[in-house]
Amino acid sequence: MDVNSTKIEEIVKQVLQEMTSAPAAKQPAASANGAIPKTSRAALLYKLEQFEIKEYPIPELGDDDILVKVEGCGICGTDAHEFKRDPFSLIPVVLGHEGTGEVVKMGKNVKKDSAGKPLNVGDKVVSCMIFKDNPDITMFDLNKQNVGGADVYGLLPDDDTHLNGWFADYIVIRGGSTIFNVSDLDLDSRILIEPCAVLIHAVERAKTTGILRFNSRVVVQGCGPIGLICIAVLRTMGIENIVAVDGEQKRLDFAKQMGADTSVNFKDYKGIEALAKGVEDAFGGHLADFAFQCTGSPVGHANIYKFIRNGGGLCELGFFINGGDATINPHFDICAKEITTVGSWVYTLRDYATTFDFLKRAKGIGLPIEKLITHKYPLSQINEGFATNLKMEGLKIAVINE
Ligand SMILES: NC(=O)c1ccc[n+]([C@@H]2O[C@H](COP(=O)([O-])OP(=O)(O)OC[C@H]3O[C@@H](n4cnc5c(N)ncnc54)[C@H](O)[C@@H]3O)[C@@H](O)[C@H]2O)c1
Ligand SMILES: [Zn+2]
Repeated sequence: MDVNSTKIEEIVKQVLQEMTSAPAAKQPAASANGAIPKTSRAALLYKLEQFEIKEYPIPELGDDDILVKVEGCGICGTDAHEFKRDPFSLIPVVLGHEGTGEVVKMGKNVKKDSAGKPLNVGDKVVSCMIFKDNPDITMFDLNKQNVGGADVYGLLPDDDTHLNGWFADYIVIRGGSTIFNVSDLDLDSRILIEPCAVLIHAVERAKTTGILRFNSRVVVQGCGPIGLICIAVLRTMGIENIVAVDGEQKRLDFAKQMGADTSVNFKDYKGIEALAKGVEDAFGGHLADFAFQCTGSPVGHANIYKFIRNGGGLCELGFFINGGDATINPHFDICAKEITTVGSWVYTLRDYATTFDFLKRAKGIGLPIEKLITHKYPLSQINEGFATNLKMEGLKIAVINE
């Protein structure tokens, strides 16, 4: 053996030793090289209006469990309510239910998603309700039948697993949950699936009245994310004659990008009669055949009947939570006009599947769906993200993992 080969042997030994004895502290917290770290950060809402970034061990997976590396998660109005008032008494809680990410590990029994599509490590997924058997069950049906509500990741009480919400680096999806392989959608679309499913369901509910047709004149009141997505869903299914109503001009302008034909700013009108005339003028001298109520305002609910023609229809979806009582006149508003009304609350699992196709079609016809996400914050700045949400400066605020 000559000198050079001895040296090479020593160098190789040294390199190998360095590799095996590298201190754990030098490993990146979230694996850049594909390795799964031992711990994961999660944003714990530990008191009102305060998240703390905690580090939790990533637990051993059960045979039916899935470990997902989070890519991003939208902030929902429900999260904002939890942040401000904790109406569901969940604190301490890891929030985030509009999330998506990549499967990094699966229990040996997991082969397919809830729609029967193959599921593999590397696939991009979203979770839905934690309820398994019947794809037609909605949370609403569950409540009506009084068999208890379905659970959702991001609105679960804290437990020993901790990684129960999408405002984290990793989430543990346990057996019996619903999960969908949405690898064919981009990140922004995947973050918007949950709110879009609300509108797919609302339009399905509207269709049950038999009044909503391709050539219907449709008014959408309220142009927050919910109303804007409503317009996009209507436009994508081929309804062209849409009037958007709101008091925020920026939102009304965006409503046109999302497919509204005309917009009406209620601040330009004094009193409901003038406003109703404004809507009628926007339809060229006709009242609406159908209306979607997408505000949480009791005044908004009372007003909307005035925009609808005799024999028309209404879908009320703005009151996800109790926003108080609204005063209407049953004679003028419902009885004499023969208005058909439906309520709409969340979605079914089937609506989720429809939503994946909707997102592709909406992009296909050039609707700028991704522009709904106006702000992106890293997990470390989640408190700032929620503050922006509460100031109502943007539309959809998302937490995107660094
Ligand atoms: N049915 C469901 O399953 C479901 C799911 C999610 C959200 N929601 C509800 O939908 C509603 C809208 O959600 P969002 O995220 O778009 O909220 P948002 O607060 O961002 O938007 C509401 C919009 O309504 C407008 N508005 C308020 N009062 C009005 C009035 N009188 N006339 C016209 N416009 C008015 C506001 O200017 C705002 O742009 C919320 O109340 C929410 O609770 C329902
Ligand atoms: Zn939501």
